[in-house]
Amino acid sequence: MDQTLTHTGAKKACVIGGTGNLASILIKHLLQSGYKVNTTVRDPENEKKIAHLRQLQELGDLKIFKADLTDEESFDSSFSGCEYIFHVATPINFKSEDPEEDMIKPAIQGVINVFKSCLKSKSVKRVIYTSSAAAVSINNDSGTGLVMNEENWTDIEFLREKKPFNWGYPISKMLAEKTAWEFAEENKIDLVTVIPALIAGNSLLSDPPSSLSLSMSLITEMHVTGLKEMQKLSGSISFVHVDDLARAHLFLAEKETASGRYICCAYNTSVPEIADLLIQRYPKYNVLSEFQEGLSIPKLILSSEKLINEGFRFEYGINEMYDQMIEYFESKGLIKAKES
Ligand SMILES: NC(=O)c1ccc[n+]([C@@H]2O[C@H](COP(=O)([O-])OP(=O)(O)OC[C@H]3O[C@@H](n4cnc5c(N)ncnc54)[C@H](OP(=O)(O)O)[C@@H]3O)[C@@H](O)[C@H]2O)c1
Repeated sequence: MDQTLTHTGAKKACVIGGTGNLASILIKHLLQSGYKVNTTVRDPENEKKIAHLRQLQELGDLKIFKADLTDEESFDSSFSGCEYIFHVATPINFKSEDPEEDMIKPAIQGVINVFKSCLKSKSVKRVIYTSSAAAVSINNDSGTGLVMNEENWTDIEFLREKKPFNWGYPISKMLAEKTAWEFAEENKIDLVTVIPALIAGNSLLSDPPSSLSLSMSLITEMHVTGLKEMQKLSGSISFVHVDDLARAHLFLAEKETASGRYICCAYNTSVPEIADLLIQRYPKYNVLSEFQEGLSIPKLILSSEKLINEGFRFEYGINEMYDQMIEYFESKGLIKAKES
């Protein structure tokens, strides 16, 4: 099926959270496809955090608005004239001692506030909410070979009871997505949710996004625990390239027949398999490769069959994702080759 995007200069979209990694790449794709774009940030005065948005303004009509997920009505002006609302932002605070207050409540409140502003707008046709694989794959099942699809929801009771590493984030994503579905149904809002795997590849941001830092941890030796715990909790390390993910958001916005949830994952793997790949592909770097038992075979895979059946094609495989992350980390001086 043809995925070429039509050049529709009159169309307008709003991307919530323009300082974020995915949001900034999505803005780039929208502008390159001829969209007028509004984006919201929490602090438009922070020139360092919006420097990439200033550069993107050279590509087309991009306006920056101030809004906060916790501030009702703060989205009203940014949605004016927009057909599509991409709700990408999410409260992230992995160091929080109170994830309920710092992540879960503001994520849910954010969905409600965004949807209330959509209801007031006369122009919004569809909301595209960025959920997470963390809202799908976390469960207490054992074994291997599980295939997760859009029918699956993370086991929230298991998370609340066991409180594993970073438990607040998956709960926030799952409850925010559930809230989005309930609100959309009650208020007849056209909603599509996108469920990304771990976001890899390039970035427009000057500081490395957390998912790139996690993906590169076997070389940087930082956040290695996070990567291992992610596999233990989520059942796999599953990746999508940020450009593919941004294209999937736009594809699902424009595809009239799209409905429901869509998992967006290009490659399922495990921590030891990533180590093998890095050792072979980048011999000039030291790679951590000693792992405890139980990580070699991922418990599950995330299936993007539904998205592919809609006509979407992934362009990037794992090698390209890591090539671009290596280049990004090298350009920032964050990784050093072995001494010979
Ligand atoms: N990264 C991944 O691997 C991954 C995987 C699956 C799903 N996702 C989902 O994909 C989306 C984008 O991820 P990302 O990694 O690109 O995110 P990111 O770079 O961490 O950006 C998060 C964004 O949310 C904004 N934000 C946080 N709290 C806010 C609030 N109260 N009001 C308004 N904005 C707020 C941040 O603004 P500030 O700059 O002001 O803090 C930032 O722009 C998120 O919904 C995430 O859950 C990500």
